[in-house]
Amino acid sequence: MSTAEDSIAHGNQTAKAFTLTSALWFAFATTFGMIAAGYLVAPDFMANIEYIQFGRVRPMHVNAVLFGFVTPGLIAVAFYYLPRLMKTRLYSEKLGVFSALFWNLTVAAGMVGVSLGHSQGREYAELPWTVDIMVAISFSLVIANFLLTIRRRTEPILYVSIWYAAAAVVLTACTYLLGNVIWEPETGALSGIPDAILLWFYGHNVFGLLLSPMALGVAYYVLPIATRSPLYSHTLSLLGFWSLIIVYTHIGTHHLLQVPVPTWLKTISIVDSVAMVIPVMVFLINIWYTVKGKLGNVHADIGAKFVFTGTIFYFFVNIQGSMMALPDVQRITHFNNWVVGHAHIGVLAFAGMTALGGLYFILPRVTGRPLHSPFLADLQYWLVLIGVTGFAIVLTIVGLIQGQAWYNGETLYRTLPEIQPYYVMRLSLGAMIMAGAYLGLYNVVRSLYFNRGAAS
Ligand code: HEM
Ligand code: HEM
Repeated sequence: MSTAEDSIAHGNQTAKAFTLTSALWFAFATTFGMIAAGYLVAPDFMANIEYIQFGRVRPMHVNAVLFGFVTPGLIAVAFYYLPRLMKTRLYSEKLGVFSALFWNLTVAAGMVGVSLGHSQGREYAELPWTVDIMVAISFSLVIANFLLTIRRRTEPILYVSIWYAAAAVVLTACTYLLGNVIWEPETGALSGIPDAILLWFYGHNVFGLLLSPMALGVAYYVLPIATRSPLYSHTLSLLGFWSLIIVYTHIGTHHLLQVPVPTWLKTISIVDSVAMVIPVMVFLINIWYTVKGKLGNVHADIGAKFVFTGTIFYFFVNIQGSMMALPDVQRITHFNNWVVGHAHIGVLAFAGMTALGGLYFILPRVTGRPLHSPFLADLQYWLVLIGVTGFAIVLTIVGLIQGQAWYNGETLYRTLPEIQPYYVMRLSLGAMIMAGAYLGLYNVVRSLYFNRGAAS
């Protein structure tokens, strides 16, 4: 079937709606990131505008990247591959488009709420209670469409991408409600140490049970097709899935190694953080053997290029993360920009790049026409790649300066002049990423709605 026929046969309205959602919030999120980074260079920058003070714009940035950009991007690709892998149609395009609209409303309400000062003040759980309920509804709508599509499948074997996509949305809906202490609308929190433990159980599961599995599902779909190679091993793919689910759910307490939580819980989190090399390496061996000898095909397809680059960063973020969970290493890396560097490698360079790749892979297929501009997509690739690699280097150096100073008992103020130039560099690198996000938005809108390319 040609891509044009495929696009007509399936409609693809839901995949298109989530694609646009992701591109739009990528642009907003990087704008918020630039404002936050601006404050760290010049604290008086926009000092009188309360709605975008650092304390408000930081959670706006983080929630916009997580729930506005990366998750909807990965969901868009899942809405594309689920029906095809199961040889059926999506259960309901109408429900899908409605869920995309509601999803946007939710993220926008979260931004307005936090900007007006209604943050619940717990990292990754800042959104006010009413918005938490909207998040739960958004996920439920997506879950219903995913599961009802699975029920009407004509292909009995569930390819691993389906396992990852279904598990990610179902498990996240549960951990989101738990982590946001949904039964306490006033505070959205328990008190004391139990609250910290619960928060970080949820917090790390945003990366471990939402972004990572969704991204792996996309990589497992895109790379074999782009390289025209069968998956190296289906057995390994399931081993990777189950080991990820088992190991990742226990590591949240590695955020609390310097806090008086029970030692047994810390020990489990450290052991399982190191054990994360199992699911990660199983995945990487499987996917890299699949594309072995076919890097030319990866290079020729902008979607596959983004996704493959994401897998390389997955390797780095895992090695780095496992080391950061060791108490002796964390004595230097905790409480400083090293962690912010790790966060950008994980959420942008691995999950974000994979989402972008998935979107560029499906765009010609959902529209039935070539991408509006392959050149702009390639330019965006380089802007994001150089920007995020620069972030990783600069923030790691700043983290080491801060970590050593802390370790030696020096005052915070002494390090400030020393790290200032690095913050300026971060701002400049951020400008590249933000430019990439706006170019991407332009390219996506043109490809979706104003594309005059010949149908393929
Ligand atoms: C795969 C193995 C991984 C391990 C073992 C790991 C380990 C860690 C550790 C130990 C920390 C806490 C550092 C500290 O507070 O001192 C951390 C923080 C973080 N990780 Fe990972 N990581 C892994 C992968 C990832 C991935 C794939 C992502 C993103 C998709 C990610 C995103 C983050 C973020 C955003 C933080 C910062 C949390 C905060 O706000 O404090 N990590 N990671
Ligand atoms: C224009 C580009 C960007 C700039 C200038 C930027 C800047 C920032 C700043 C200033 C912070 C707060 C750091 C702090 O509190 O010290 C931050 C946090 C964060 N950003 Fe970005 N960012 C950008 C793009 C992105 C993208 C595209 C993603 C993900 C796809 C992302 C994910 C995160 C995460 C997860 C955190 C929380 C880190 C933590 O708590 O450890 N950022 N960013």
